[in-house]
Amino acid sequence: MATVVVALGGSLLRPEVEERHKWLEEMVGVVKNSVSSGVKLALVVGGGAPAREGIDLARPVIHDLSHLDRIGIAATRLNATIVREAIAVGGVKVSENIPKSIDEAVDELSDLPVVVMGGTVPGHTTDAVAIRLAVQLEADKCIIATNVAKVHSEDPRENPSAESFDMLTLDELQEIVGPPDHADAGSSKVVDPIGVGEARENALRLDVLDGRDPRRISASINGEDFEGTMVTP
Ligand code: UTP
Repeated sequence: MATVVVALGGSLLRPEVEERHKWLEEMVGVVKNSVSSGVKLALVVGGGAPAREGIDLARPVIHDLSHLDRIGIAATRLNATIVREAIAVGGVKVSENIPKSIDEAVDELSDLPVVVMGGTVPGHTTDAVAIRLAVQLEADKCIIATNVAKVHSEDPRENPSAESFDMLTLDELQEIVGPPDHADAGSSKVVDPIGVGEARENALRLDVLDGRDPRRISASINGEDFEGTMVTP
C-alpha cells in the first residue's frame, strides 16, 4: 500500500478569499478519494496566520528562540485540529488525537488510513516534520504543498523575474534555500532548509507544488503528472 506524506503550509488554511472554507472542503474530498484508492496518508499542517500572530505578540517579551517556536507549534496543532475534525466529519477514519511526535504518528498510521499532525519540537518547521515522517514511514515521497506554483531561483515576491523550475536535484534545492539551519521562529523559505538536509541524507523525493489548488496535491498523491517542482535525489 502506498504511503504519502503531505506538508500542508499553514497559509493554505486561511486564504485571503471570500469563500475560504472551499479549500478545506476540497481537501477533505482529496483525502476521501486517496483513502478509497488504498493510499495511506499523513498530513502535517503548518501554523500560518495564528503562528505569525502569536510569535509577533510574544517576540518583544520572549527572546529565547525555542520558546517562540513552542508558540508556533501550538498554532500548527490548532490548524491540524481544524483539518482533522473536517476529515472526521467527512466520514474518513482518522486518528483521534494529534500526534505530538513522529513515533506517535507512525504508530497511529499502522492502524488507520489517515493521520493529521502539526509540529513536534522546537528547532525546525512542519516541512522538516513531514520529511522526517516520510523517511520513518519509508514513503515514496513527501509532498510540500505551499503557496507558490514552483520553486524559484529567488523569492518571486522579491524578484518577479526569478527563474522557476520543473525539476531540481535535492542538492540544487539546498543551494536555493540555504544551509540546514533553523533561522528564526516563524520565518519561511519555500522548503525548510533543515528538511531539505534530511531529504538529502535519506534520498527522499520531494514534490513541491501550489497547494491552493487541491487537484495538484491529488495528482501528486496518485503518482500522476502534477504542476510544480519535482525534486529528486
Ligand atoms: P510552520 O511549519 O508553519 O513554519 O511552523 P513556517 O514555514 O514558518 O510557516 P508556513 O509553512 O508558511 O505555515 C511555524 C513555526 O512553529 C515553529 C517554528 O518556529 C516555525 O517557524 N515550529 C513548528 C517548531 O519549532 N517545530 C515544529 O515541529 C513545527
